[in-house]
Amino acid sequence: MIKYEVKLLEGIERKEIEEKRSGAAALIEKMRGDEFGGWVDLPENYDKEEFAKIKAAAERIREQAEILVCIGIGGSYLGHRALIEALGGERGRTKILFAGNSLSARELRKVIAEVQGKDFAINVISKSGTTTEPAIAFRVFKKLLIEKYGEDEAAKRIYATTDKSKGALHDEAVDKGYEMFVVPDNIGGRYSVLTAVGLLAIAVAGIDIDKLMAGAKKEMEALRVDGGAAAEYAATRNVLLEKGYDIEILANFEPSFGQFNEWWKQLFGESEGKDGKGIFPASVIDSTDLHSLGQYIQDGRRSLFETFVETEEKLTGVLVPEMEGDIDGLAYLEGREIDEINKLANLATREAHFVGGVSVGRVIMLRIDEEAIGALIYFFEMSCALSGLMLGVNPFNQPGVEEYKTKMFERLGKPGYGEKSKPEDRSVE
Ligand code: PA5
Repeated sequence: MIKYEVKLLEGIERKEIEEKRSGAAALIEKMRGDEFGGWVDLPENYDKEEFAKIKAAAERIREQAEILVCIGIGGSYLGHRALIEALGGERGRTKILFAGNSLSARELRKVIAEVQGKDFAINVISKSGTTTEPAIAFRVFKKLLIEKYGEDEAAKRIYATTDKSKGALHDEAVDKGYEMFVVPDNIGGRYSVLTAVGLLAIAVAGIDIDKLMAGAKKEMEALRVDGGAAAEYAATRNVLLEKGYDIEILANFEPSFGQFNEWWKQLFGESEGKDGKGIFPASVIDSTDLHSLGQYIQDGRRSLFETFVETEEKLTGVLVPEMEGDIDGLAYLEGREIDEINKLANLATREAHFVGGVSVGRVIMLRIDEEAIGALIYFFEMSCALSGLMLGVNPFNQPGVEEYKTKMFERLGKPGYGEKSKPEDRSVE
């Protein structure tokens, strides 16, 4: 079970937090009834047939491919990437690579180089089936697959995760006979990591998805009645926002959580940043970033608060070696566990930042394993939805994302997209 605790600056009253928290049970009911509330009971109500199909496909992919190229953007890639990295990376022979999450030709070239001479497969993930970034990358890797294996065998190496009944990707998958997985209608992209969107790649990476779902289910049960620790966290961040603290920094002392931070930023940023409202989600990996953003957090404009994601699990056996003499001044640490030093640095950082005028929260998991990460995912999803509803926004839509697309389509000359689609307006300024 995930724990949450917080040390608040003076002037931030518990009773204000209690008051906001008290409405959580009603908000959970509201989200359960929402057209995009399918994630709320997902750890219990997930489609067991689809789940078995995911496991079987993962086995096949592990046999047929040295590399699985996961193509998708936003909620269609961040979750599985975060989870695989947080759990220590791939455990079998199949390496997972990511494409279609930017428009960078340089990035694409790197992945193209990696698949050269290797057996590979594609998992293309797009709920709409029309998102430009993954659609372009899909063309590129599909062409490579066809050149390498021919049309028929290529089709057996393409796994499409998309809408169950409509969209360009759905239609192509049906037409070409790709194995298909469903992005449920009632679950938005950033809440979808525990569906086929995330689970296929996670299973291919050799991670036990039964344990992952079991962890999420336990957390769901813990939060079910009144939101528990998630409601406490959601209420705290809303009270902090009302006091002018409009930046939240998610801090972690494990570099393998770098992509988890990215998942969290999308979840909260896309859910809350609308109607001129929201907390700006930022992140750091410490102690690395104590040597860059640490200065600002300690001493810059006082409009931020920090949430540390921590584990109680102790990693043993990696020690500071003993050496003759004390040339580097480290004799006092000789024989100490490096994980213990890391945890003490974490504690010291919390203390220092609090003294510097930063309210510091802690989200604590028992261990870093499948169950704990499943619980952590659910904890943040519930916190985010509650927090958005407490803020008075719809945490399940993302209307602002369309604006850049419209401007980009004008510049690119997509048919039907306004005046700038004239060729002379398409040059890069
Ligand atoms: O969270 C979301 O809904 C978005 O980030 C989408 O996942 C993202 O825009 C990709 O959309 P699609 O899966 O339709 O390609």
